[in-house]
Amino acid sequence: MPAPTLAVDFGTSNTAAAILDGGTLRRLEIEPGSETLPTAVFFPMRGEMRIGSDAARALIEGEEGRYMRALKSVLGTPLFHDPRLIAGRRRTLAQIVTAFLVTLRERAEAQTGHRFTRVLSGRPVQFHTGAPDRDQQAEADLRACYHAAGFETVDFLFEPEAAAIASRDAGAAGDIGLIVDIGGGTSDFTVFRGGESVEILGSHGIRLGGTDFDHAVSMDHAMPLLGLGGQLRRTLADGLLPVPRGIYVDLSTWAMIPFLYSRDTERLVEDMARHAVDAQAMERLATVITDQLGHDLAFAVEAGKIAANDGTARAMINMGMVAPGLAAPISQASLARALADSRLPLASAIRQTLFSAGVDPLSVGTVVLVGGSSLLSLVQDEARAACPAARLHRSEVFTAVVDGLALATA
Ligand SMILES: Nc1ncnc2c1ncn2[C@@H]1O[C@H](COP(=O)(O)OP(=O)(O)OP(=O)(O)O)[C@@H](O)[C@H]1O
Ligand SMILES: [Mg+2]
Repeated sequence: MPAPTLAVDFGTSNTAAAILDGGTLRRLEIEPGSETLPTAVFFPMRGEMRIGSDAARALIEGEEGRYMRALKSVLGTPLFHDPRLIAGRRRTLAQIVTAFLVTLRERAEAQTGHRFTRVLSGRPVQFHTGAPDRDQQAEADLRACYHAAGFETVDFLFEPEAAAIASRDAGAAGDIGLIVDIGGGTSDFTVFRGGESVEILGSHGIRLGGTDFDHAVSMDHAMPLLGLGGQLRRTLADGLLPVPRGIYVDLSTWAMIPFLYSRDTERLVEDMARHAVDAQAMERLATVITDQLGHDLAFAVEAGKIAANDGTARAMINMGMVAPGLAAPISQASLARALADSRLPLASAIRQTLFSAGVDPLSVGTVVLVGGSSLLSLVQDEARAACPAARLHRSEVFTAVVDGLALATA
């Protein structure tokens, strides 16, 4: 019997794999005890690459090496093919994504006893917004990685269309449903008619997701404690200059953090520390760069975002890894302020999805929430406002896409 097609949801933050096993959906346990795996890698100075939670563990335990996350957001950019020195070896991100997919395939094979040669992968409706060339290149990059990882046949399906297939029973038969899939990197939408089989009425997407939300939260809450918004004394004249933002932008962007760990950046920060009006804040920035604490900080920001969204009283972004006791308070109100600029793009994207599908917003009966960031109250508010007659239905947010991909392999 030929091996089934492997369904893979290669997400910005989390990856999952599943198959149809004799007509039944079967999610694979791609790391012990879990049906999803953080899309992350760790290269130790010596020894084998680690992926998923293992990679995060190596980072948290302070092992020497290079941790990387949000690899999907670099697909389609020149950086993807740019060789970089990573843990003592020159490698490209393309090689790293390939190695991640090889490990994924091997784990799926070990668990099922199949040898997979065909993959059905999800992809966002738009990897890059308003840049069709880049978008095509991103799919071509991912396809090449699957091929290099040993898959002979590689097909793609839009992630929200897969989620629609998995959600065919979310509303009454014949009901119009809207998938709102907000993940780590992109926001994707599909209008569909549910029932016995799913009819796709239209899809749309934008490049906006949880990593952008983390960025906004970090810039508002954490980076000011590292000197952002402060001033530098001029060297050759009187007066003050604003602290340049570039380094803070990179430090709060998951995919860019590893590229800050260079002698050039250390020198730049040392120079800024010499001239800073708030020397203590700039010393903290220097600690983050020299001790390579960018990812630890980004994890703390992400945890603070989730805690504040959940309404945790006195939620904090714990920055104790930078200086003992250092923390940035975060509340529902300050989170809402940090994310305010995302409301309009989300609302417009939903409107655009319905408009191009020729569907009246009032005729949407069910909005299906998919993706980790759909748990944000901001997203749910916008979905409710855009489809006032709809019932909100929470899918299995982290696996709806891979479920639908597996069902689509039938
Ligand atoms: N409870 C929560 N509240 C808010 N955000 C959350 C919550 N749990 C997870 N997230 C966010 O969800 C995002 C990850 O979601 P998900 O795993 O669906 O993304 P992905 O599928 O990997 O990304 P994409 O589909 O965009 O490529 C992260 O940015 C994470 O911070
Ligand atoms: Mg996703």
